[in-house]
Amino acid sequence: MAVREQVWPVTLREMRREDLMAVLEIERRSFAQPWSRAFFEKELATPFARLAVAVEEGRLGSAVVGYSCRWRVTDEVHLLNVAVHPERRGRGFGRLLLEAIVGEARSSRARVVYLEVRAGNVVARRLYRSLGFGELGLRRGYYGPGQDAIVMELRLGHW
Ligand SMILES: CC(C)(COP(=O)(O)OP(=O)(O)OC[C@H]1O[C@@H](n2cnc3c(N)ncnc32)[C@H](O)[C@@H]1OP(=O)(O)O)[C@@H](O)C(=O)NCCC(=O)NCCS
Repeated sequence: MAVREQVWPVTLREMRREDLMAVLEIERRSFAQPWSRAFFEKELATPFARLAVAVEEGRLGSAVVGYSCRWRVTDEVHLLNVAVHPERRGRGFGRLLLEAIVGEARSSRARVVYLEVRAGNVVARRLYRSLGFGELGLRRGYYGPGQDAIVMELRLGHW
């Protein structure tokens, strides 16, 4: 008989300052140039920034397993950051965080969602494409020498 991994419920809610220890741990394990605590604190204090966390219930209580950060500027949404704990990837949490952003953008009549992704980040690019994002262009050297960014957009039909 195949042994199945226990699936625990996951909820999304707004990020709070108390989440920052868990968020920073994920951030440092996810990016070569991670955002600092001060950077997250600045975003938490920015009126047009929205930060969300994915919280997984487990045997030992709940834990932050991922987060996102976006800006709402007029009728545009800009995705600035999204990451899932390396040990909790591939379980649909990244998709859940992204679908929530796209759903909220749609229902609040945003016109478009923009993001930048490293050209070599095939996992994230595949996820964005599967949500309907298209590739707008390339920003050469955006993440440093030889590290290009792909700009992606999702048009929401209110053009
Ligand atoms: C990108 C990231 C957020 C995805 O989170 P995740 O929880 O692992 O993603 P999901 O489990 O929801 O998978 C979503 C899609 O990603 C792709 N994907 C996930 N794991 C993959 C893997 N190991 N190989 C290839 N594609 C993969 C698939 O297209 C998947 O779609 P599916 O559910 O139809 O199979 C996560 O990999 C991460 O934190 N990466 C490091 C930080 C990062 O690169 N952030 C994006 C910056 S632009």
